[in-house]
Amino acid sequence: MPKLNESLTLRSGITLKNRLFVPPMTVVLSFHDGAITTDEVNHYAEISQGSGLVITGTANVTENGKGWPGELSVTDDSMIEGLSRIAKAIQDKGAKAILQIFHAGRMSSSKTIGEQVVSASAIPAEMPGAEIPRELSEAEILEIIEAFGQATRRAIAAGFDGVEIHGANTYLIQQFFSEHSNRRNDAWGGSLEKRANFPKAVTKRVFEEVEKADRPFAVGYRLSPVEATTPGIRLEDSLYLIDELKAFPLDYLHVSLKSYDRKSNSPELQEKSELAYIHDRIDGAFPLLAVGGVRDRVAAEGILEDAELAGVAQQTLVDPSFAQKLLDDRDAEIVTKPFAEAIYDLPMAHPKLKYLERRYL
Ligand SMILES: Cc1cc2nc3c(=O)[nH]c(=O)nc-3n(C[C@H](O)[C@H](O)[C@H](O)COP(=O)(O)O)c2cc1C
Repeated sequence: MPKLNESLTLRSGITLKNRLFVPPMTVVLSFHDGAITTDEVNHYAEISQGSGLVITGTANVTENGKGWPGELSVTDDSMIEGLSRIAKAIQDKGAKAILQIFHAGRMSSSKTIGEQVVSASAIPAEMPGAEIPRELSEAEILEIIEAFGQATRRAIAAGFDGVEIHGANTYLIQQFFSEHSNRRNDAWGGSLEKRANFPKAVTKRVFEEVEKADRPFAVGYRLSPVEATTPGIRLEDSLYLIDELKAFPLDYLHVSLKSYDRKSNSPELQEKSELAYIHDRIDGAFPLLAVGGVRDRVAAEGILEDAELAGVAQQTLVDPSFAQKLLDDRDAEIVTKPFAEAIYDLPMAHPKLKYLERRYL
């Protein structure tokens, strides 16, 4: 098992100074069009103390992929300059900076994007207030794949150390992979293999841009291994997707979990945690990053039993020095309080708070 302060060199050649990372957290501090604010730059400087890697909150790659007002945007070259301020704020603290890129698909709203939301199929999400999406045409699918490529080009130009493809948390890439949201019967759906085509096409397009970079540039892929809905993604499906992703020179795979030691909802896969099944299946093909409920050393080290890097999201907002305190053996100084309480002290735009509480707490 790796130690918290052990370094890790990724396949691209980028070296992380330790095994702690800050997972992506949207803090809705951008302007309405996604342009970067100074508050946001200061926020990234604050949360980048100690950890080897910081992944930004998610950035939408097209206008209709925006999930909510105040989120980062990487839709246009005009965003590069502002994004470079975030990359620099993170790197100045000695951490590597990764930009998370996504399309919200049916998880957005017509109020946010000014038109009907889109998805793989015209099936709404199972959540209160979900809107019925419009099924994407073949041409639109190709445009979105291209937009992921352009977003990668912009991340390289902005000075980031890498991008993370956001294939998790029920957004568009996951919507294509899930039988719940993807009822298509064309090249993009109809079987498990075809539902994996969109995630794979996005990953392929991202790597085409990375090949043009004049310096090492990392690519990670984040997924949510299991959905609660029926039909929906089961752990077996995610293990298949992981095998398919092994065809790419990924720097890491990142699993989004609420509790890192959670067991899946597949009756056949109850012997160990979801994380342990995934780690075994990766079998060293790439490092595994995991999150879910880390509030202290025991949990951070618990993750490292089945992953190469341990992520700390909410606790980093509660105590931005958490990682440094762990690394310095200053555990007694760690601030702990429920995130739902701490959130009201954060410089986030308040309309988003209820949404965040519903999705993440
Ligand atoms: C305020 C907030 C914003 C988040 N935004 C994102 C995001 O933009 N992209 C993403 O993949 N996950 C996002 N997440 C999920 C976290 O990355 C993480 O998976 C989750 O909080 C569980 O980790 P934790 O128990 O350490 O908080 C967000 C979580 C929080 C609390």
